[in-house]
Amino acid sequence: MTAPTSGPEKAKYAAALKAMDYVEPGMKIGLGTGSTAFHFVNLMGERVAAGDNFKCVPTSSRTAEQAKSLNIPLITLDKAKRLDLVVDGADEFDPDMNLIKGAGGALLQEKLVAMAAKKMIVISDESKEVQQLGKFTLPVEVVQFGWEGTLKRVERQLKRVGLEGKTITRRLDGKKPYVTDEGHYLLDLQLDVIEDPAKLARQLKQIVGVVETGLFIKIADTVIVGYENGTTKVIG
Ligand code: A5P
Repeated sequence: MTAPTSGPEKAKYAAALKAMDYVEPGMKIGLGTGSTAFHFVNLMGERVAAGDNFKCVPTSSRTAEQAKSLNIPLITLDKAKRLDLVVDGADEFDPDMNLIKGAGGALLQEKLVAMAAKKMIVISDESKEVQQLGKFTLPVEVVQFGWEGTLKRVERQLKRVGLEGKTITRRLDGKKPYVTDEGHYLLDLQLDVIEDPAKLARQLKQIVGVVETGLFIKIADTVIVGYENGTTKVIG
C-alpha cells in the first residue's frame, strides 16, 4: 500500500500509523470502521504480511471484507471475549474524549467492540476536534418495527430537554432506508449543540425502540489527531 502524500488522507494515515505504536504481536484487536480506520486496517495487513500474528474483531461487514482481503485473522467478539485494543475513527470528539460516532452506520458493533476492549484509541484528523459535541448529526439506531412511533418518542424526549424542533431524518441508502449490519434503521439527529452528552445518551437509550446511540461517553482512552503535514498529537 502506498501512503497518501497530501491532503486529508495524509492526516488520517498519519493518525493510523501512530496508532501502530500501540500494537504488539499476539494482541486481540478491534478493527474500526470508516475512512480513517481503513488506513489502520491496511497497516495491520502489512504487519500480518510481515509475519506478526493477531486475532482481530471487525466492527462492520465492510471492515470484515477489507480485513479478509488482507489475510488478517478474524474471530468473533464472543470468541475473543476481551480485546487488548480497539482502534476506530470518530465524527467528533470533545475535550473529555466523549465522541459522536456512526456516520459510517456501524455504531452498534463499534460500541460493543469498544466495550470489550481494555483500551480504545480514536484516530482522527483535526476536523473532528470540537469544544462541544452536536454540530455533526447524532445517529440513533432503532428497530425497524414501529420505527415511526420510536421517532415520535425521540422527538418528545428532545422537546422535554429543550431541544424542540430539531431535524431528525431516517438515514437513506439511495432511495431505500439504510439498514445496519444488525438489521436496524438509523435516525440522524441534527442537534447543533449537546450541552450534556452523558445525560442525553441516557435519556435516548431509555426510549422503547432505541437500540443504541452514537454517543460514546467515557469510552475512549486516547485520541490521536493526524495533521496534513504528517505530524500527530496524542491526547490521553
Ligand atoms: C462508522 O460507523 C463511524 O463511527 C466512523 O468511525 C466515523 O464515522 C469516522 O469515520 P471517518 O473516519 O470516515 O470520518
